[in-house]
Amino acid sequence: MNGEFSPEEKDGFYKAVFSRRDVRSHFTSESIDERVLSRILNAAHHAPSVGFSQPWNFILIKDKQTRKKVKDSFDKERIRSSNLVEDPKRSKYLSLRLEGILGSALNVCVTYDPSKFGPFVIGRSSIPETGIYSVCCAIQNLWLAARAEDIGVGWVSILSNDDLKKHLEIPEHVVPVAYLCLGHVTGFAEKPDLETAGWLNRLALKDVVYYEKWNNNSDPSWQQIREMIISNLDYA
Ligand SMILES: Cc1cc2nc3c(=O)[nH]c(=O)nc-3n(C[C@H](O)[C@H](O)[C@H](O)COP(=O)(O)O)c2cc1C
Repeated sequence: MNGEFSPEEKDGFYKAVFSRRDVRSHFTSESIDERVLSRILNAAHHAPSVGFSQPWNFILIKDKQTRKKVKDSFDKERIRSSNLVEDPKRSKYLSLRLEGILGSALNVCVTYDPSKFGPFVIGRSSIPETGIYSVCCAIQNLWLAARAEDIGVGWVSILSNDDLKKHLEIPEHVVPVAYLCLGHVTGFAEKPDLETAGWLNRLALKDVVYYEKWNNNSDPSWQQIREMIISNLDYA
């Protein structure tokens, strides 16, 4: 059995959580040490998964030609999605930097393979999406481990999965879940880029916590934590 975290270990964990950022434009061209990369991938591979199905694969992409094709898919999808909003939001959206496909040292496509250990996976029969949720847990592990290793990660979802499947030769039954850009960075921003750009702000914690049932944000048996959350004391 493993023991508890020391205060320094806790600080390290929360530092990774709070200073992790989605990185698009602060990449340097320095390549990632392969020992570091293997530690990051191993952290991802130790994520929880429904029925221990470990349904992820990580496709590591250095090749510039492949990346150029993925960037073309991004350019196409970015224009397509911009047509879903009206100006001035459309122009604002088009002004945002939303990918680092060619500027980063490495791209990683994280996929979901529902056939691994299938078809019966403990816990997946009632909620099939738990397979994808498991892959997202692996992605978050990767993101935090990368931050601890001083490596930036950006998630690009403005892409066509059909394009990705074609360019990366992904079989029909396998789903691309995330296309990630990884690399050394000049720094990690204090706030999300979308917050700095005035797109959206972080919601207050008090507005996303309910007590005992949906939409109930005051309950006598939860008074103490509610006050802490409202006064922003213990988690800031
Ligand atoms: C599922 C998912 C898809 C995302 N897709 C994109 C994307 O296509 N382009 C982009 O620039 N950021 C993308 N992001 C990053 C979010 O914009 C970012 O996480 C959010 O603005 C909060 O910023 P932070 O990660 O720096 O805290 C994505 C994040 C997630 C979790």
